[in-house]
Amino acid sequence: MGDFLHKDIEKILVSQNEIENIVNTLANQLEKDYNYKEFIMIGLLKGSMVFLADLMRKIKLDFAIDFMVASSYGSGTESSGKVLISKDISVPIDNKDILIVEDIVDSGITLDYISKHLYSKGAKSVAICTLFDKPARRIKNIDITYKGMTVPDEFVVGYGLDYNEKYRNLPYVGILKSSVYSDNM
Ligand code: IMP
Ligand code: MG
Repeated sequence: MGDFLHKDIEKILVSQNEIENIVNTLANQLEKDYNYKEFIMIGLLKGSMVFLADLMRKIKLDFAIDFMVASSYGSGTESSGKVLISKDISVPIDNKDILIVEDIVDSGITLDYISKHLYSKGAKSVAICTLFDKPARRIKNIDITYKGMTVPDEFVVGYGLDYNEKYRNLPYVGILKSSVYSDNM
């Protein structure tokens, strides 16, 4: 059965099936690398929630989960360059190995800021696992250890990724029609 195409989606970039394969590959890698290591997975809300929910159930290791809410974006499609942490971690991370789970890295400003923040709270190591990497507009040169897929410089939605809080529930990732955001500016 094909994916249902939402009217605001220009085209499907990554199908449900392809996403599943990507998540499986990342889970296998993480399972190897974090075996015998006590680590904490920190998901960045809200974008990473669908990815994290799938990923964590495929990793057969013991680990804790926590969440942060941070944003470098307003309601548009371009970064504001500032990061605001509106919900911080709620567990001690002193001397712990941290895996940040993110939906997409764009300018890198958010993850650069959060990595430093977690080190300042005493983390032993901070690694990044992102489903998507959009390197075209990178400003902060961050180290991404686990990357699902590189995407072109387009605004993508679905599988947790939103535009104005919508489209997170799409089971695939699609390119948003530019008319959707130009109508709004
Ligand atoms: P950065 O700080 O510029 O790397 O911003 C990363 C954040 O911007 C991600 O966590 C997303 O919430 C958001 N973002 C960047 N590009 C997209 C996109 O194409 N679709 C949806 N959200 C995006
Ligand atoms: Mg985000």
